[in-house]
Amino acid sequence: MSESTYKVDIRFQTRVERSKRVLEIAEAFGIGLDEKEFVVFDGLDLEVRQGDVVYITGQSGAGKSLLLRDLERQMGERGMTTANIDKVQLEDRPLIDQIGKDTNDGIRIMQLAGINDAYIWVRKPHELSDGQRYRFRLAKLIETGAQVWCADEFMAVLDRTAARVIAYTTQKVARRVGATVMVATTHTDLVEDLCPNLVVEKRFREKVRVESIADAAEQAAAKTMTRDEIYELMLKVM
Ligand SMILES: Nc1ncnc2c1ncn2[C@@H]1O[C@H](COP(=O)(O)OP(=O)(O)OP(=O)(O)O)[C@@H](O)[C@H]1O
Ligand SMILES: [Mg+2]
Repeated sequence: MSESTYKVDIRFQTRVERSKRVLEIAEAFGIGLDEKEFVVFDGLDLEVRQGDVVYITGQSGAGKSLLLRDLERQMGERGMTTANIDKVQLEDRPLIDQIGKDTNDGIRIMQLAGINDAYIWVRKPHELSDGQRYRFRLAKLIETGAQVWCADEFMAVLDRTAARVIAYTTQKVARRVGATVMVATTHTDLVEDLCPNLVVEKRFREKVRVESIADAAEQAAAKTMTRDEIYELMLKVM
């Protein structure tokens, strides 16, 4: 196995607790309660190279979060530094006081994550909307300098225009610094802006579609949004 291949094998023994009501449901709806094996990933081989952008999608309950967590764990075990947007700790202080080496650096990182408003820079996390707080988490994720950035429910709380702009800037920043990005989301509208190298669409049972895009990096490089275009889009969502 090459150092960039990962094997994902996730299965559960389903054991249902036989409470009185569970037994009533089993009888009424004719469902069996025997222990069964539930296979989510049946030894799936994935190739993820450092610097790749991985887009995990599929319906609710399909196995996106399990896959993301498993890849993150395997990468960690291989000695890579990983950072997860859900684990970013926020402090109850103005944003500008908890990011960057100094004020300018803090502003620079926040702008990368789509926080362009001075009024927000001086607020505390609990005073922000979910979408604003998510963008700040992303800024903190960028600041970690980790080799692998993971985000489950990527941009789920953002309106779709903001999500697309931030997806675009996230991959730009990641590709500039060579970070691997792995996101899981049921939305499929961010593919164009993330320019993923790998799309994993998880379906039900152990079914999965894997698409590898050979020229993703070139596509991403060719895709440019001017600063004006980005600001114009950001203005629409503020
Ligand atoms: N510990 C567990 N034991 C048994 N089944 C589990 C366990 N954890 C997850 N599952 C099952 O695995 C499947 C995939 O779960 P997962 O959380 O990865 O879904 P998801 O694609 O992230 O869904 P969502 O979009 O709702 O977050 C689900 O059907 C879930 O019920
Ligand atoms: Mg999930």
